[in-house]
Amino acid sequence: MKVLIVGKGGREHAIAWKSAQSNLVSEVFIAPGNVGMSEGTLVPINDDDIEGLANFAEKEKIDLTIVGPENALALGIVDEFEKRGLKIFGPSKLASQIESSKDFAKKIMKKYNIPTAKSETFDNKENAIDYIKTKSIPIVIKEDGLKAGKGVTVAFTQDEALETLESIFSVPNKVVIEEYLEGFEFSLIAVVNGDIVVPLEVAQDHKRVFDGDKGANTGGMGVYSPVKKINKFIVDEAINKIIKPTLKGMKSDGIPFKGFLFAGVMLTDVGVKTIEFNARLGDPEAEVILPRLKTDFIKLILNVLDNKSIPLEWDERHAVAVVMASKNYPESSTIGAEIKIPDDIDAKIFHMGTKMENGILKTNGGRVLALMSYGETLSEAKQKAYENVDKIECAKLFYRTDIASKGEM
Ligand code: AMP
Ligand code: GLY
Repeated sequence: MKVLIVGKGGREHAIAWKSAQSNLVSEVFIAPGNVGMSEGTLVPINDDDIEGLANFAEKEKIDLTIVGPENALALGIVDEFEKRGLKIFGPSKLASQIESSKDFAKKIMKKYNIPTAKSETFDNKENAIDYIKTKSIPIVIKEDGLKAGKGVTVAFTQDEALETLESIFSVPNKVVIEEYLEGFEFSLIAVVNGDIVVPLEVAQDHKRVFDGDKGANTGGMGVYSPVKKINKFIVDEAINKIIKPTLKGMKSDGIPFKGFLFAGVMLTDVGVKTIEFNARLGDPEAEVILPRLKTDFIKLILNVLDNKSIPLEWDERHAVAVVMASKNYPESSTIGAEIKIPDDIDAKIFHMGTKMENGILKTNGGRVLALMSYGETLSEAKQKAYENVDKIECAKLFYRTDIASKGEM
């Protein structure tokens, strides 16, 4: 069968790579993809050109489309494809609000008693400021809407909180202000369709830009899986208290969810609490979870689309992925710096933001490469990933040096 992957980052590279390994797949197309994705044919249609993508899928007789990024979902790619009778895996425009609107997600969580941080939503700066003044710090301020993981500020002083509000309300806006949760954060992604829930293995991302979890929030600077501290009981608790009741609630509200439901979860002293939902696979989470999945990925998706659950088989090895990002990310990105990848690389390189110019590989975005290595132990996987990161030559890239360091806890 012919599969189309929508998107252009590291997550989509991992999806394309995994899809190409499926016995069911004869051809993989990626729109628009990037130059590193040699596993498929690149199609020059942007991931926000919903009409163009649907036209391509019709013309090329694509059997299954898998959507990577949230913007395509929020634009209604799934609704358009399904209207035309095209098979696609992802949530509808309405259901993808679970990610695209923090306020929508909070309302669902409040209505269905899903554990999460206490919060209030404001569309008026003065009211938000008055509220902040009554609260203790740290306090968390989340801009509504899609922000590529960058719309969240954890303010450690009142001044920082007030400055953040000034900046957010420099244009008409909506914010969710919530209590700060302390604990161990992990990413739990389930492949779902209505009542069918197939959880993937847990991963832990590193959201802050610098070592020691310092600096601004990013889309994710590195990741590892499995996560020893998050045992089966904790996963079950998150599935039963977060994933399942959210799906049930959305269904009873007439907004059933199909696709990858991603919960950012904090394991606190009083149990699991939801930090956020995403309506897609994580990036870089996909770059360690899919390499560990032994079950045919396309078979999994087809079964779930068909309302059938299947047991999953996992590679017991540890996987660590280290992100190499443009200096200055997440504030800005370097475009066009030369990258040299030597032949003796012994890691899977997922391209997040690269391009080719006159035969020279160059940076093309904030996050540029994710290097994934396996190991019999976490420290072996980590060591291998970093040995390979050190072999990449590019004057404009940086990376965190402490990915997976909480993994032995
Ligand atoms: P989000 O985009 O909502 O996942 O937020 C980005 C990151 O900010 C999360 O991955 C957490 O590390 C942090 N964060 C968000 N909300 C909270 C919270 N209520 N308490 C503590 N940290 C938070
Ligand atoms: N790495 C977190 C995300 O994909 O949102």
